[in-house]
Amino acid sequence: MTSAPSTPNSAPSADTPEPDVYPPNPAFAAAANAQPSLYDDAARDRLAFWETQAERLHWHEKWSDVLDWSGAPVAKWFVGGKLNVAYNCVDRHVLEGNGERVAIEFEGEPGDTRTLTYNDLLAEVSRAANAFTDLGLVAGDRVAVYMPMIPEAIVTMLACARLGLTHSVVFGGFSAGALRSRIDDAEAKLVVTVDGQWRRGKPAPLKSAVDEAVDGAESVENVLVVRRTGIDVEWTEGRDLCWHDTVDPASPEHTAQPFDSEHPLFILYTSGTTGKPKGIVHTTGGYLTQVSYTHHNVFDYKPDDVYWCTADIGWVTGHSYIVYGPLSNGVTQVVYEGTPNSPDEHRHFQIIEKYGVSIYYTAPTMVRTFMKWGRAIPDAHDLSSIRLLGSVGEPINPEAWRWYRDVIGGGTAPIVDTWWQTETGAIMISPLPGVTTTKPGSAMAPLPGISAKIVDDDGKDVGNGGSGYLVLDEPWPSMLRGIWGDMDRYRDTYWSRYAEQGWYFAGDGAKFDEDGALWVMGRVDDVMNVSGHRISTAEVESALVGHSGVAEAAVVGATDDTTGQGIVAFVILRQGVENTGDPLIAELRSQVSTDISPIAKPREIHIVPELPKTRSGKIMRRLLRDVAEGRELGDTSTLVDPGVFEAIRKA
Ligand code: WT7
Repeated sequence: MTSAPSTPNSAPSADTPEPDVYPPNPAFAAAANAQPSLYDDAARDRLAFWETQAERLHWHEKWSDVLDWSGAPVAKWFVGGKLNVAYNCVDRHVLEGNGERVAIEFEGEPGDTRTLTYNDLLAEVSRAANAFTDLGLVAGDRVAVYMPMIPEAIVTMLACARLGLTHSVVFGGFSAGALRSRIDDAEAKLVVTVDGQWRRGKPAPLKSAVDEAVDGAESVENVLVVRRTGIDVEWTEGRDLCWHDTVDPASPEHTAQPFDSEHPLFILYTSGTTGKPKGIVHTTGGYLTQVSYTHHNVFDYKPDDVYWCTADIGWVTGHSYIVYGPLSNGVTQVVYEGTPNSPDEHRHFQIIEKYGVSIYYTAPTMVRTFMKWGRAIPDAHDLSSIRLLGSVGEPINPEAWRWYRDVIGGGTAPIVDTWWQTETGAIMISPLPGVTTTKPGSAMAPLPGISAKIVDDDGKDVGNGGSGYLVLDEPWPSMLRGIWGDMDRYRDTYWSRYAEQGWYFAGDGAKFDEDGALWVMGRVDDVMNVSGHRISTAEVESALVGHSGVAEAAVVGATDDTTGQGIVAFVILRQGVENTGDPLIAELRSQVSTDISPIAKPREIHIVPELPKTRSGKIMRRLLRDVAEGRELGDTSTLVDPGVFEAIRKA
């Protein structure tokens, strides 16, 4: 059987089993922002702890009560406090004498660059705020943002925050129809967009999708267009405005007004179990407190660091860990517009090398893609600036975790595997680098100030060695305050499962191992039941990816007459690995059998050239289930490449 890891650094030697725990390096620990006392402080008095964290921010007026949970499940945090988010993310740093510090190192896909200091950012955000005000927008109005990763996108979000306008960022890869339904649901008055965006060396139109989306949309008064690619666009006089004629000439002076701690900061749509996306609502004071606190402690950000989160502002990770958390902490960060393999697979590593990125935060799917490309690519670059790595979005399989640390992290960088959701607003479960001894694949423990449990159907703690549902049993500052326009759905989706206890149901399965480390196993709808045994798709995927020939795997439970569900796996091979057909499949099945249990052995394994992924990088298991069960495909509109099914069916 060929299951040896591919990287020499992580190869277990025959006689000394690899100690699969990673204690913090003492020098890192000594200098870390987060010290063990953080856990003690939070345990002593959780609410007082959060008050201390809120003091990281500038409040125009202090709060009276830290938490009002009397309206559960709608929390109020820092009741009566007043603050301005943009002031906290921009003005404050300038006033503290850091105006010349670089806020954003922008790298466009075609290779153009722009450097914005905090002085520059303040001027830009002020101009946009003045221009938005001149358009007649007032606090509480909604603004849709449909833009690629360019500085104006961040400026727009901050200008909205500055004016108390609630933004709704819609990922630039979504269709006109998806944009329209979000515009309508939030009744957005303004849409900010670009003529087109750079994608793999070519300009891709975006304004045209907006034209289609806003046609007949009653709420929309204006469409503001940044010129990014210079392509021709249709123009509707009276409605469409050019950013360069509207924002550029506006005054760079603007005085930020304070808003209530519970003022709605943004709506972000995320998919639920039904077809209609949920508009997750986040507010001001609690949200900014928790993103700032977590960014400081989880990423150990220091003034010399260069931070890079590879997410898109279309997702919550972009909101919390590109815009609000990092900027509230005055970071210098890289913002990259394009795809990781444009013009070739070296791009991310060139960027790390060029800017001296020291903190790099990405998704497991990206790490596995790098693995597929092969380590020769990162090895061709000096990545020695990297001192901390982060992972988010799905469980990271131990094989990818070790590869990430060895190949990208030079064998020394701590990895923070951060569990959270659009709904939680900020990181909830994660190691603290410098404090936590990590295990590859485990998010380890709730952060100080956060309380989580793993329980069974009746709400009983599963204890060490047990698995069950992940719940959050105490309110937290950055929690969602509802679903826009549908508070019944809010109660029903998150709070009805454990209504008696008043716990938030996260929708994830999780386990505590024998040492009490917390492992998130994936969505409970991705948990299979085979002959009465509960098996996580993520666990089987991890076993498959543990095989040296496998780059990536997706597993689904398909209806099975005998066993309830049967396990069906779709597997991509690493570059250069030969598909020998049956012998390879037999090897993979036995790998799963020995790694987990014979009951987890996939019924079918398909070797495929690609997996269907959403634009946020999530594997669309629902569609793979359709394939596995021989059905017509469901909605493929959110896929990066709907054509991948042709390839899968042919395989
Ligand atoms: C779901 C939330 C959080 C920002 C990006 C995704 C999964 C997220 C982890 C992790 C295991 C994870 C969960 C969660 N997830 N991070 N570190 N380990 N699973 O946000 O689209 O709202 O998705 O992503 O299943 O419920 P999202």
